[in-house]
Amino acid sequence: MNTPIHDFLTAYGKSGIVRCHMPGGKGRNNPFDITEIYGADSLFECDGIISESEKNASSLFGAGSTLFSCGGSTLSIQAMLATLKDITGKNTVIAGRYCHKSLINSCILLGFDIKWAYPREYLGTDIKAEEIEKLIDSDTSAVFINSVDYYGGEADIKAVSEVCKKHNILLLVDNAHGAYKVFTDDHPLKQGADMTADSAHKTLPVLTGGAYMHLSNPDLRLVAKNAMNMFGSSSPSYLIMDSLDLCNRFIDEKKAEALSLIHDVAVLKGWLSDIGYKLKKSDPMRITIDTADYGYSGNEFAEILRNLGAECEMSDRQYIVLLFSVSQNRTDLMKLYKYLSLIEKKAPLTPEAHIILRPERVLSPREAYYGRKTAEKTETATGRICAGVHTPCPPCVPLVMPGERIDEECVNELIKYGVREILVSE
Ligand SMILES: Cc1ncc(COP(=O)(O)O)c(C=O)c1O
Repeated sequence: MNTPIHDFLTAYGKSGIVRCHMPGGKGRNNPFDITEIYGADSLFECDGIISESEKNASSLFGAGSTLFSCGGSTLSIQAMLATLKDITGKNTVIAGRYCHKSLINSCILLGFDIKWAYPREYLGTDIKAEEIEKLIDSDTSAVFINSVDYYGGEADIKAVSEVCKKHNILLLVDNAHGAYKVFTDDHPLKQGADMTADSAHKTLPVLTGGAYMHLSNPDLRLVAKNAMNMFGSSSPSYLIMDSLDLCNRFIDEKKAEALSLIHDVAVLKGWLSDIGYKLKKSDPMRITIDTADYGYSGNEFAEILRNLGAECEMSDRQYIVLLFSVSQNRTDLMKLYKYLSLIEKKAPLTPEAHIILRPERVLSPREAYYGRKTAEKTETATGRICAGVHTPCPPCVPLVMPGERIDEECVNELIKYGVREILVSE
């Protein structure tokens, strides 16, 4: 597969031309660090090397059109919501409760109200299509679900998409953790999603910040570019675009290697179960260990693993999440197995269950966010209305949304998650 962005940058880097243009490094820190010079195209109004590379990506993913994002899935989610607003003119979204903060921030900015659909588990995505259907009414512009979730849970996108099609509304999928699904034939686009946000940088060999916004309908491309333009920097990173461009070739040529890594992760899951680890069901690119069952809190276990030589993606009171990428090699997995087999199993702990909070809604998220507000210590916030977006990162999933009343249960959970101060309505 051709790599038009990379080829342009390589030629420019070698040209020895005097750089009388931005950026200030003048190519000395990195010869590929350029801006929208002659021939380099322009991300939000592209018709040259960037659009060519985006077309390569859309053919690999089976998308109607693909937009590169240099601001992660965060920017793709903002652009998805802005596109939605533009094409439907409606103001309500149905969303899975455990969404990344970028959804709530986008809704606040764009004036979308949100109806929450609740899964059965903390951070889960297992929301029944029938539950979603009950929430649909004439104001609904789209359903927004997150799949894969932080623990590796996956939604039944097909079932949700059938409901959306029945009611003629769009399905938007936060596929930030699932860009690698380009290799596994179960990408959300193939299951009926209309738009997806994929963080290429999480599971593909792409620099941090590199992501896609995929559209099933190519006719929305111009509206979507315009929407991304609203939020993205006017100096998007060519280093990130270069890595997205090279990733096209990786996807095209390295399917066998990627599937072999996915197979190796599955084998490692089996080995870990054999030596006594209890694993939470997860997608093929991660291993989520119930460390409490092994005798440790997730945070304690992460510390032990760190000292042995491996850093995990996330830990909490019950689990650790080990996230892999298609560019990971087998040696890493073997080392990980060695470290995990060195940790002694102890008597299981009984961690406090993660509570599914359902705080009372008092105001819309936007009303609360833009209303008069003040900072309050979380421990004394009982009864107040949340007016900010507060969440530990990872997983960057707010427990209480702006406009919701903070009850005692919320206070306890927020404190457990390290949120010590919170904005509340005055
Ligand atoms: C579920 C989910 N959605 C969206 C995002 C935002 O992705 P990015 O970091 O690419 O902006 C994240 C980030 O971790 C995430 O976990």
